[in-house]
Amino acid sequence: MDKWKPLYHFMAPKHWMNDPNGPLYHQGVYHLFYQWNPDNDEWGNIHWGHAMSIDLVHWEHRPPALSPLREAGELHCFSGSCVIENGRPALFYTSVGEGDRDCRVGPQQWLAKGTNNLENWTRIKENPILQLSIHGELQVLDWRDPFVWKGENLWYMILGGSVHGKGCVLLYEGQSLEQWKYLGILAQGDDKVWECPNFFPLKWGEEQDRWVLLYSPIGSEDSRVHFRIGTWEPGKAFISQEEGVLDEGGKSGYYAATSFLGPDERRLVHGWISEETRKNHGASLGWNGCLALPREISLNAAGELVQRPVPELEVFRGAYEHWVNMNVKGLHLLATQGRGVELELFLKMPEDTDGRGAIIPPLEIQFFSSPDQTQKTVVQLDAQKHQLRVDRSKSSTLEGIDKSTLNLDLPSGPWNLRIFLDHSTFEIFVNDRYCLSGRVYPDHPDAHRIYLNCAQEGIWQVTELKAWILAEDLEEIRVRQEELLLGIDSEGQNP
Ligand code: FRU
Repeated sequence: MDKWKPLYHFMAPKHWMNDPNGPLYHQGVYHLFYQWNPDNDEWGNIHWGHAMSIDLVHWEHRPPALSPLREAGELHCFSGSCVIENGRPALFYTSVGEGDRDCRVGPQQWLAKGTNNLENWTRIKENPILQLSIHGELQVLDWRDPFVWKGENLWYMILGGSVHGKGCVLLYEGQSLEQWKYLGILAQGDDKVWECPNFFPLKWGEEQDRWVLLYSPIGSEDSRVHFRIGTWEPGKAFISQEEGVLDEGGKSGYYAATSFLGPDERRLVHGWISEETRKNHGASLGWNGCLALPREISLNAAGELVQRPVPELEVFRGAYEHWVNMNVKGLHLLATQGRGVELELFLKMPEDTDGRGAIIPPLEIQFFSSPDQTQKTVVQLDAQKHQLRVDRSKSSTLEGIDKSTLNLDLPSGPWNLRIFLDHSTFEIFVNDRYCLSGRVYPDHPDAHRIYLNCAQEGIWQVTELKAWILAEDLEEIRVRQEELLLGIDSEGQNP
């Protein structure tokens, strides 16, 4: 059903995709690789798909970078990362096979070198460059997803896995890209396995950089991408000072995040939005999974993690609606209707007027709503519980779709919201900091409306609301993109 197919999110040319892999900005071009099954809509036969972009939001598919090397017993090319060494692209991935090469007990880390356009990759003859025996007596399970960066003199690599039944990140040091030494466990938690680790410095005002660790836990209840912020330098332990969750979406909404350094020193992050929400529903659609919108992450003055969708996405903006000082009373229908929409709301928090704990009704943003309101997805802003909820109970009439409510805990207000909708995806950003991404699968033919709602008048004030139709006219967007690239504004002038 194409009515669920995202329009402005990155997707594989067809069939199954999962994690983003080895994103890289090289010679003016963004490259993106991803876990891809070219054969069908299920996970399997994992290749590294490849796409490139000049603006981070329009992608051109390229031939796959890696296919499993059957003659070496390889069945899947698992996740990894890319670096440039002396101008030459290098790609690290986890090679997985059957039996004693299986992903739990026998994965290996492999290296391939690429041509300048990142299109032709040759596995080096020294592979595997890391084997489990590198850990000596230590038993490491589910060892995968190399993330590599260059230090002042040496290379560093981290890998996810589990030691003594607990998810962890292991650290290695490389004299060269081919020769590695195990240094120890960088961080560990209570989850079963940690996947897709990332470790990078972020600027923090005049202070020394802070190091940020991202990881995706699996096998336990919590599958949300986590971050830890702290201090690290080679030879020293990573001292985590703050921990948090990048996105409440978890395995079905936002997972396997991976980052890279873009131009202008921006730390950019891609994540995967799966189709778990509809996994018990019906037939294949010819596609499965997409990437979340690229985000830029940084630290604010207080050293807290800030995340924003990249401004490049503004190129998708079309018809626009703008309100100021809107007192929400009952249902208010927006003029903006559609399945590809961006909303921005600045809210004045309700006051508990009598001070005796009167119930404050939530402000609701209802989207993908049918005209008769029988079908809708409802974002509820609860000022008393300091919570944002996404009520999906009426989001679809179809069986086998997860319609549970999703929760995002927030600090007390004020709250500013950005919401991106794309046919079946939603990504909600609050105060550039708290995120909830997920999926709904509306089946009503006319589930295009957006309403604001509050059961009681005079409670919630929207100081400003902006709404845009996104990616409605792709041809117009293409022209606008070209103009932007040429540095010409919409009146045809060079700014
Ligand atoms: C995360 C993950 C990675 C692994 C890849 C396999 O979603 O399980 O740990 O490399 O997917 O496709």
